[in-house]
Order: sequence, then structure tokens, then C-alpha cells
Amino acid sequence: MNYRIPRGTYDILPKDSAKWQYVQNVFRRVAQRFGYLEIVTPIFEMAELFERSSGENSDVVQKEMYRFTDQKGRNFALRPEGTAPVVRSYIENHLDRLGGKSKLYYFGPMFRYDRPQAGRYRQFYQYGIEFIGSNHPYFDAEVIAIELAYLEELGLKDFRLEINSVGCEKCSRTYDEALRKYYQPHLAELCPDCQKRFESKPRRLLDCKVPSCKAFRKDAPSQLNYLDQECKDHFDQVQKYLDQMDIAYTINPAIVRGLDYYTNTAFELIVDALGAQNSIAGGGRYNALISQIGGKDTPAIGFAGGFERLLLAMEKEEIEFPQYAPPDVYVIGMGAATTDMALSCLKEMRKHGLYAEYNPDKSSFKAQMKAADASQAYYALIIGADELAADMPTLKNLRTSEQKQYSRPELSHVIAQRLL
Ligand code: HAM
Repeated sequence: MNYRIPRGTYDILPKDSAKWQYVQNVFRRVAQRFGYLEIVTPIFEMAELFERSSGENSDVVQKEMYRFTDQKGRNFALRPEGTAPVVRSYIENHLDRLGGKSKLYYFGPMFRYDRPQAGRYRQFYQYGIEFIGSNHPYFDAEVIAIELAYLEELGLKDFRLEINSVGCEKCSRTYDEALRKYYQPHLAELCPDCQKRFESKPRRLLDCKVPSCKAFRKDAPSQLNYLDQECKDHFDQVQKYLDQMDIAYTINPAIVRGLDYYTNTAFELIVDALGAQNSIAGGGRYNALISQIGGKDTPAIGFAGGFERLLLAMEKEEIEFPQYAPPDVYVIGMGAATTDMALSCLKEMRKHGLYAEYNPDKSSFKAQMKAADASQAYYALIIGADELAADMPTLKNLRTSEQKQYSRPELSHVIAQRLL
């Protein structure tokens, strides 16, 4: 039996893992610069958490959730996204009592049963930010600024920011009515999915990719004309902050977002070069979500990005990634008699943070030297019969070919100085 990886998933192979560590580390660094702390939640939760938060009729809940029951018949789901788990944890652990606002970031695998294609997987890795505790429009702009600071630090250039306001619950009800009125005469011409969404979530009709449905989008009423004064003022303020932060954006009233919890600001970062799956990150406010799933009425905003799409975008721009560093030292021991000395040198070097390689499996000096060269190590520590007799290993600089024999105390000094 040959086992195969599940469709829509992938292995991160050793040749690629340095890239992944790099993008994760940069995200950590950038988030911490804005005062965010990491939160880690389980990869499965009660299915109902997502049903309540993402929306019973959302694609995520209807079609994409990986559900399972455990031995006691409880209904769980692999998390399709990170916001609801973070909010669940915020409520459950009374993070509001920590005082002030909660600035949280996270990473991890998410799961959605969708048709796999370039940039779309069934297990994918998100990085995300959730800012809980204020409705001040500055924080809408700050959350966006975090993503942009991250992309800038990674060196990505060809992307654009689109923003929208989907209004509060009250003004989105008026807007939904206007949309139903507009679409009603065309109902029979819409795809089956849109016909289903017409009642429950008419704004999803704006998002449909089916060409016959897309044609109606152009003349559809715009959400922005249905914002009440408070929502309009909020959106104006967000734009003002973005301007003051020198952040370029376009307003796209067709941004809908696939999850149901959004209120007011919604945004996406688009990389056109990625084709169909061109959204590398997206998010927005969710002022009603926390009370909706059992917490106090608390405003919040956040976003998440997909590492796969980010890496694809970086590859398209030919951005170079840091590689794993070669060994600092390759230890070459000639024969079993040198093992003690080799092992004690290796231990000392590793204790001082040096990356040291050793392979007693290769017997001849020539083969070991060849392996040292192939590893691109900076130094070889050679322990032959002479070195053993004098208790003085030879340290050879493999870049310059200079070499010198050291007494053990001298060698310890050189190692402590990380080989000088
Ligand atoms: P989302 O737009 O569903 O939002 O996902 C965010 C990002 O995750 C997308 O922009 C994309 O880069 C990536 N992504 C989504 N699905 C896939 C997939 N199947 N394969 C690869 N990448 C994917 C959320 O998940 C919200 N929780 C964001 C948020 C946080 N809103 C407020 N706070």
C-alpha cells in the first residue's frame, strides 16, 4: 500500500522550511512592534462556534467545514478560521479583565473543504491579528498598517489595498432590502446558489463568480449609499487615518467578505499576479460578534492572511529568502581512537551555539574532507594521528585554507569566541 497525502494538503519539505520560518518570524516581529501578543488556540472547536459566528448560511459552514463527532458524540469542527476561536478564548478566559484592550496575534493551520487549486488548499496556514476592545477608527487603520508593515518588511511591492464599509447591523438591514428589491425581477436568471442566498444574505450575490450573475453587479445599489450617519462618519475617519499614515487604498463597495460577522470596515489585500485566488489577506470590524457568542458587547477588528498566497506572491516578485546557514565547523576524525576528542570538541562547540557537523560513517580522510567541502562549512576541525598524539587539533579555515594547531585550552578560547 502506498499512502498518499490528502488532496488539498502539502508537506513543507526541508528545502522550503527556512522560507516558512522566515515569514513567520517576520510576522511575529512586526506584530510585537505594534504591541500584539501571541495567542494559541486548539485546531478544533465545537462546530457550533463557527455556525454561530461565520453564519449558518455561509459557504464556510454550509460546504467547507471539516466536521467530526468524538467518542461521546460531541460535534466538533477543524477550525476554518481563527477569529471565532480567539473570541471564544477572549470570553472564556476573561481577557477583558486584563484591563485596556487586547491585542492578539496568531498563526496556524486552518481547514476548509474547497476545490483545491493554485493558492487554495484544504489545509492552509493563516497569520492573523485581532484587536478587541475599541471602536475607535484609529485602530481600523492601525490593523491595516500592521499588514502593510509586514508586507513592506518582506519586500513585497505589487499589491493593492481595497477598503469598504459594510455598515452596522441596522444599516446593513436597509441595504439588504434595497438589494432584494434590485435583484427580485432577475431572480430566475440567477445561479442556484444566488437564488438561495437572495433571502438570507443578498450581499453575497455581489460576490458571485458566475458570469450571468456577475452581469447584474454593475447596476446594483452600493452599500456606501446606505450607511447611516454614524457608520459614514466612522468610515470617513478610517480613511483620514489611512491618509495620515500615507497608506494608499481604493474604495471598493463590492467587498463583501465570505464570513457573516463583519460590521463597518472591511478590507482586502489583493495581488493581481496571483490570478483567481488573488486575496492575500482580508479582514474587518466585527463589533457584534463578541456579544453574539456570549460575551459582553465589545467592538473588535482584525484580519488574517494566507502564508501560501504570500509565498507565491513573493516568488512572483523574485524576492530572495534567507537560506539555512552552512555548518560553522565540520569535525574530521581519523579512526576510532579520535572519537573521544571529536565528541568532546563537538559538545563544546554546540554548547557555544556553533553549528557543528560530524560523520564517522565516512572513513577515509579524503571522503571526510570532501563532505566538509560539500557542506560549505566555514571551518574543518581535523583530528588525525598527530593531533591526537599532541592533544592539539587542527582548525582549518575552508575559505582561505589557512590552518593552525591549537592546544585544547587555546581551542576552547577560540570556540568561546565563536572561532574568532
Ligand atoms: P478570510 O478572508 O476567509 O478571512 O481568510 C483570510 C485569508 O486566508 C485569505 O485572504 C487568504 O489569503 C487565506 N485563505 C483563505 N482560504 C484559503 C484557502 N482555502 N487556501 C489558502 N489560503 C486561504 C478570515 O479567515 C477571517 N478570520 C479574517 C479576519 C480576522 N477577520 C477579522 N479578523
